[in-house]
Amino acid sequence: MDLTRRTFLIGTAGMSLAPRRTGDPFTLGVASGDPTADGIVLWTRLAPDPLTDGGHGGMPGRNIDVDWQLAEDEKFTRVVRSGTVTAQPSWAHSVHVEPSGLQPGREYFYRFRTGRHLSPTGRTRTAPAPGTAPALAFGVVSCSNYEQGYFTAYRRLGEQHPDLVLHLGDYIYEYAPGGYKNSDGKIVRSHTEHRCQTLTEFRLRHAQYKTDPDLQALHALAPWIAVNDDHEVENNWAGVHPGTSGRPNFTQRKVAGYRAYYEHMPLRRTSLPHGSRMQLYRRLAWGDLATFHVLDTRQFRDDQPCDDGVRANCSDRLLTGRVLVGAEQRQWLASGLQASRARWNLLAQQIFMAQHDYHLGPGKEVVLDTWDGYTAERDRVLGDLVASGARNPVVLTGDIHCHYASDLLVDFDDPDSRRVGVELVTTSVTSDGDGYDAPAGRAIELEENPHIAYADQRRGFIAARLTPTELRADFHTLPYVTRRNAPSTVTASFTVADGAHRLSRSNATAARAPQAAAAAAPRR
Ligand SMILES: [Fe+2]
Repeated sequence: MDLTRRTFLIGTAGMSLAPRRTGDPFTLGVASGDPTADGIVLWTRLAPDPLTDGGHGGMPGRNIDVDWQLAEDEKFTRVVRSGTVTAQPSWAHSVHVEPSGLQPGREYFYRFRTGRHLSPTGRTRTAPAPGTAPALAFGVVSCSNYEQGYFTAYRRLGEQHPDLVLHLGDYIYEYAPGGYKNSDGKIVRSHTEHRCQTLTEFRLRHAQYKTDPDLQALHALAPWIAVNDDHEVENNWAGVHPGTSGRPNFTQRKVAGYRAYYEHMPLRRTSLPHGSRMQLYRRLAWGDLATFHVLDTRQFRDDQPCDDGVRANCSDRLLTGRVLVGAEQRQWLASGLQASRARWNLLAQQIFMAQHDYHLGPGKEVVLDTWDGYTAERDRVLGDLVASGARNPVVLTGDIHCHYASDLLVDFDDPDSRRVGVELVTTSVTSDGDGYDAPAGRAIELEENPHIAYADQRRGFIAARLTPTELRADFHTLPYVTRRNAPSTVTASFTVADGAHRLSRSNATAARAPQAAAAAAPRR
């Protein structure tokens, strides 16, 4: 989502990334994802020349055999699974392998080989066994715009050694070079040519993002659970309705965007796109400790009301019949919550769920692309959460390019209303550039929205730790992303105790030191 209230100024485009011509087909790295107690998805894509015209990655138009290995040790002396798969030109020579029958709750290493070329080694892990609940360290990221900054947040998250990474959407941006700029007009490197509309353009864009070394390193370090938002197709699309591009042939763009997303992410075959449909809502258990209910808030929604944007006085947003996740997905969620025996139930989704009023005083001004544009659906889902009795609901959110921590209330207009659970919103990795810390504006925002406990307009990620008794969320921020190598600092920490359904601020991290030598942050 891009907030329409933001001002975009003209700036200069950065340097484009030179294609590599080494013959090594593993220029896009390796990845793993969607761990279960006995399996994992392993991914790579063959592309010796990833940014070559046509999006074929410099590969011939024929099938290529790729060997893979999964081992218990980094030196591959104890290989437990191996095989050969066929990389097909029709899927951009992407490779998705789903080894099963693995041991629960343990680390594995994997690699691929074709011809004389060996891929980098990736590290991954399976989920713990049912009936066990070892601690889980996980990271949450979203909104990684290649032009607007360096992906240092991915590197800093990797330094926290997460067992699992959640990417909640806007993994790529579809805009033409310079099509979406920070308020200060800064662009540090240029997107591939053209706004993404065709499969070729989406493939080139994904390939460009995958060449980033910080992105590659975080993929190679831990399994990801990834779900798309709008920019994997186009800004603010909604179900069958196009977004703000103003271009015809939306369905063709969606088909192309979905296909390229699948080709480049460690997704299971169950998420293989069929034309303009893709099964992305899914459930993943982490022993008895946690269940991740991954939601798709894009594919099944009604169009944004009142012509979208940030608006006051939009009564259509309150209409009972309007859906966001849709009846089928809501039923799937409700029954999964009812059946859940997990200590923590984490809803990994895209857009801001808590009410968020941007207007000081009486009346509300809200972002209509968020759950505030679909209030009846929010009431239904929060009602389902309560009715299910699912233990410790935690909503994980991206999209908005700011950190937020919030309590979720049955009635957001009554501060004493019943607490349903909490919402942790991760800021962007780079989108909107360096960002800023604005205590005065933040104080007003929080006063107007008393259920929101924390807001921060800088870039970063959430590093969380889950045990049977407590969730702890450290909000990391970076002082800049338009230069490389920023340190990250924990600027706020919250805990949620088992059964509490509300945030507690933790003061223990206020003085935690940055993790790398800090250079002076640029100030506008
Ligand atoms: Fe975004």
